[in-house]
Amino acid sequence: MTRHLISSADLSREETIAILETAVSMHDLQRRDVKKVPTLRGRTVINLFFEDSTRTRSSFEIAGKWMSADTINLSGKGSSTSKGESLRDTARTIDAMSVDALVIRHQASGACHQVAQWVRASVINAGDGMHEHPTQALLDAYTLRTRLGELDGRHIVLVGDLTHSRVFRSNVITLKTLGARVTVVAPPTLMPSGIGTWSATDGFATGWDLDAVIDSDDPVDAVMMLRVQRERMSGGYFPTAREYTVGYGLTRERLERLVARNPEVLVMHPGPMNRGLEIAADAADAPQSVVLDQVSAGVAVRMAVLYHLLAGDESTRDDVERSVSA
Ligand code: NCD
Repeated sequence: MTRHLISSADLSREETIAILETAVSMHDLQRRDVKKVPTLRGRTVINLFFEDSTRTRSSFEIAGKWMSADTINLSGKGSSTSKGESLRDTARTIDAMSVDALVIRHQASGACHQVAQWVRASVINAGDGMHEHPTQALLDAYTLRTRLGELDGRHIVLVGDLTHSRVFRSNVITLKTLGARVTVVAPPTLMPSGIGTWSATDGFATGWDLDAVIDSDDPVDAVMMLRVQRERMSGGYFPTAREYTVGYGLTRERLERLVARNPEVLVMHPGPMNRGLEIAADAADAPQSVVLDQVSAGVAVRMAVLYHLLAGDESTRDDVERSVSA
């Protein structure tokens, strides 16, 4: 297993599946009254978040705590970066305290890759700018596999602000690693430049017309709606919110058409949702929605990632397997 998790491409198919399978045991643990296992006793995990987060930060913190690691949260605002310290100095300062893992969210694409060159600790990317968010892709894959079984040949459609989305980039890699077919849909202004070269790969398609994808002969197994990331937009990517919803929102009417073609279709969103913009409340709260399953899977998957990265030796491995199966 790799020492760092910076990109979803760091994980082979076997490694991806190994993490998802460990997450199944972790999810069992999550359902118990007493959730602690001693696996990471004596290890220290620092969550260093330079961008806002609800789900990712709290689930990494819970994951570390349930595995008995000492976890500490640092935010950009409360740390010395607000006094002008460089990312390199901040990272090296924390590393000098002999921590075992640094979970980093940063607004700059490539920040985690940079930090990994400077520190001895394992670096886990919790979202770097518009680049990647590998643990999100793992928890999405976990949620899909729980409902659909193996993903080979499954048709997953990602819709929305692809240009600014690290969730999209990591998901395409992980879904393809697991053999799914992926269609991505966005207005032309939010379609990443250069995506034409990706389209050359098997099982990957792009489109601007969401209705054509919904009505095509290829039923959709899951539709993943991505947030319109206004905080990363500098200009006008679409005329009005209303027009975006008309063209690309998962409305009640579109969900009905998806369900008519495949009653088992799943509705996903990584959160935070802009209700009424990219997803209607009717769709977010529909029986097909697995949005809260995704959140729940987030803790189990992050426990599994910490386990594979930090508790690599066999003795600790036996320890966790015993605690989980006890
Ligand atoms: C995503 C993120 O921060 O990249 N959210 C998340 O981690 N659950 C997606 C988003 O912000 O839209």
